[in-house]
Amino acid sequence: MSDQNRQILLRRRPQGLLAPDDVELVTSPMPELHEGEALARNLYLGMEAAMRNWLTGSEGGYMEPVAIGDVVKGSSVSEIVETRCDAYEVGDIVTSLGNWQDYVVCQDDILTTKVARDVEPQRYLSLYSSAGVTAFLGMELGAPNEGDTVLVSAAAGGTGSIAGQIARIMGAGRVVGIAGSDEKCTAAVEQFGFDSCINYKAGDLKAQLKDHCPKRVDVYFDNVGGDILDVVLGGIAPRARVVLCGAIASYLEGKLPGPRNYTNLMSREATMTGFITFNHWDRFEEIFGRLRGWADDGRIRVREAVFDGLERCPDALNSIFTGGNIGKAMVKL
Ligand SMILES: NC(=O)c1ccc[n+]([C@@H]2O[C@H](COP(=O)([O-])OP(=O)(O)OC[C@H]3O[C@@H](n4cnc5c(N)ncnc54)[C@H](OP(=O)(O)O)[C@@H]3O)[C@@H](O)[C@H]2O)c1
Repeated sequence: MSDQNRQILLRRRPQGLLAPDDVELVTSPMPELHEGEALARNLYLGMEAAMRNWLTGSEGGYMEPVAIGDVVKGSSVSEIVETRCDAYEVGDIVTSLGNWQDYVVCQDDILTTKVARDVEPQRYLSLYSSAGVTAFLGMELGAPNEGDTVLVSAAAGGTGSIAGQIARIMGAGRVVGIAGSDEKCTAAVEQFGFDSCINYKAGDLKAQLKDHCPKRVDVYFDNVGGDILDVVLGGIAPRARVVLCGAIASYLEGKLPGPRNYTNLMSREATMTGFITFNHWDRFEEIFGRLRGWADDGRIRVREAVFDGLERCPDALNSIFTGGNIGKAMVKL
């Protein structure tokens, strides 16, 4: 085992996408273990939109922002390689806050969870993680009835690709995606089982929405906000459920335009509901069980956008803001 730990430190707060000079790759000595601690080697690092807020220092998140000079914070699936903690044995696989580095010190606390070894480790980031639980919780709020038309934005992304498949499992009649390229639309239909998919970059979203959702939209699972949300609000059905999962279209600029078409919520007696996955920790185990059952039965297919090597972390994080990922973005170490 190496006696060095490569780490990516935050050097300045990013404006827009993460720039090369915002971070620095350094080599630090391997941390010494104290009683009650275990050393884990990070296998995969997960990329989440929320990480940008931790880097820009925005307030109001569920996690303290990263201080300048600290290791960039992020989720991981990791393998215990040395232990002075009774909770872990060498070889255990854990999900943790491994951060952008090769090795992390873990304790027996809420941040680190021992997971089964019979699942491919990257699945703990792409399915049995925030992505899968978020897809489930959001679609549970949307509660598709038999025959309903369900629309999902960022449909080829980590959360959206699973949300569409859960809509189908819950009995939706027609499941339509919105994504940013023909390649993504093909993946949404052929791999993730959407009935059709709108490429919003191909022009006239309003007309495309009418074509793809002729009976209007009963459930909209919104990952992006912005102009797309506005157009969809124009096409909702009576008593539609609009579920606000994320607004990634606005995260880089930080400007949050209000939707003009919101009065349709009133005239069509529709609802708009938001949720935060981390407020539902108590349901993670139950939801993992359901996701595991569906994945084992072949009813949910998962795709990972894997970037190779610690130095690719900035590219991997940027990819979810530029649309460069199909499936859950992560880095393999
Ligand atoms: N509520 C919660 O607790 C919770 C928890 C986890 C995640 N989320 C939210 O879920 C959403 C998806 O997260 P994820 O981690 O699964 O990412 P993801 O969907 O794998 O990647 C984000 C996707 O968003 C799309 N996108 C980026 N910028 C866009 C823009 N300006 N306009 C339209 N689409 C844009 C891109 O797809 P296209 O190429 O198709 O545009 C990109 O691939 C995010 O908004 C995130 O904040 C919420």
